[in-house]
Amino acid sequence: MKNLHKLGVNIDHVATLRQARGTDYPDPIEAAKICAKAGADSITIHLREDRRHIQDSDVYRLTTDCPLPINLEMANAEEIVQIALEVKPAEVCLVPEKRQELTTEGGLDVVGNFQTLEKTVQRLQNNGSIVSLFVDPDKKTLESCAKTGAKVVELHTGTFCDATDPEQANAHLKKLSTGAEYAHALGLQINAGHGIHIGNLFHILTIPHLDTLNIGHSIVARAVFQGLENAVREMIQAINQKR
Ligand code: PXP
Repeated sequence: MKNLHKLGVNIDHVATLRQARGTDYPDPIEAAKICAKAGADSITIHLREDRRHIQDSDVYRLTTDCPLPINLEMANAEEIVQIALEVKPAEVCLVPEKRQELTTEGGLDVVGNFQTLEKTVQRLQNNGSIVSLFVDPDKKTLESCAKTGAKVVELHTGTFCDATDPEQANAHLKKLSTGAEYAHALGLQINAGHGIHIGNLFHILTIPHLDTLNIGHSIVARAVFQGLENAVREMIQAINQKR
């Protein structure tokens, strides 16, 4: 059955776990295959300039071996753009990137960086990738997104998801909904991502015209607990096999 909204699973943290020990497991490709089996629509990976989790080799392997379309998150940095041009992911999501941040902290300044973003959007789209721009739901920003020629915006839901004050959360949610209406009227596809988990999903789903939800941290975190019991049982069984 077709899902009401598409789900893109961000598997960066699978690579984070692997990089923490410098092993070759857990392998993001295995994770992508499990996501496909579970019904996900796409796989998101962020090739950061500091290569803290996803590595270049993951990008090459996933864009050839993954059963689902790849959405490559990346900064508008020439070195990374070259990789995207080479591997031609189904989708590229341009995000701002700061070296010290734990995760992407805010939306792109599309107005301030219009010329360079427009150029990258055109290069990637002419090369066959759909480009989305990760932005806050601000009218001027959304207008600039449409002007770059990008077909998709990913609305930054992190500010809403992280808000602890209910009034502020409500105000952020309203901005997301108004922004989605505006982006839709501009002819843009609307995706959403950042900080979404089972507990706040109900609110996120009130945002109109949503196409794809890109969710990572909460799914991988949940997977640890969903799978821990099996992993311990499996190890105990293996130990006992010597009997
Ligand atoms: N969308 C974008 C553009 C992101 O940068 C991230 C985090 O890498 C996500 C979605 C997923 O956010 P989370 O891991 O909080 O679900």
